[in-house]
Amino acid sequence: MYIAILLIISYLLGAVPNSLIIGKLFYKKDLRNYGSGNIGTTNTFRVLGKKPGVIVLLLDMLKGFIPVLFPLIFNIELSGLIFGIVAAIGHVYPIYLKFKGGKAVATSAGAILAFHPAIFIGLALFFLFTLKISKYVSLSSILSAIVLFICSIFTQDLIFITLSFIIMVIIIIRHRSNIKRLINGTESKAKI
Ligand code: G3P
Repeated sequence: MYIAILLIISYLLGAVPNSLIIGKLFYKKDLRNYGSGNIGTTNTFRVLGKKPGVIVLLLDMLKGFIPVLFPLIFNIELSGLIFGIVAAIGHVYPIYLKFKGGKAVATSAGAILAFHPAIFIGLALFFLFTLKISKYVSLSSILSAIVLFICSIFTQDLIFITLSFIIMVIIIIRHRSNIKRLINGTESKAKI
């Protein structure tokens, strides 16, 4: 019962559309009608600019970070990453937006930061390196998700491996339109 309530809280927290709230409140723009139409960090940078982009990145990461700490806070014998993944699922299928949400990258990153900071740092460096070379955020996100799964295998932690696999699959599935654009050469490049 207790665990079920915390899972629901994780989902509801993950489902909070930070970019939409900031976009509508301060810029009078609905991100879903601009750029890629995605409600994630990348489209916030693209449409609203650097400052709101950084704020949304941090807030979306926080949505994944906080639930991972639930087992510690509430003294539960369960992997914190389970709550983090539920938050990422909330971001992807938000009840507040008729279940049409984002691509799970920042929220998953926040969950990994809380669960395994060393792997997070390695992944963040890999992400930035791939982004610098390719200029594609989507490609860097997909490759980072694959590297996360590979890293998890080396930990030999079966729960971590399984959950990393789930994160990887969610991120790849949510990037289907990006993958099509990458293949036909129409994916937009980041200005970095
Ligand atoms: O975090 C999502 C990113 O990988 C792609 O976003 O807006 O270019 O589809 P977008």
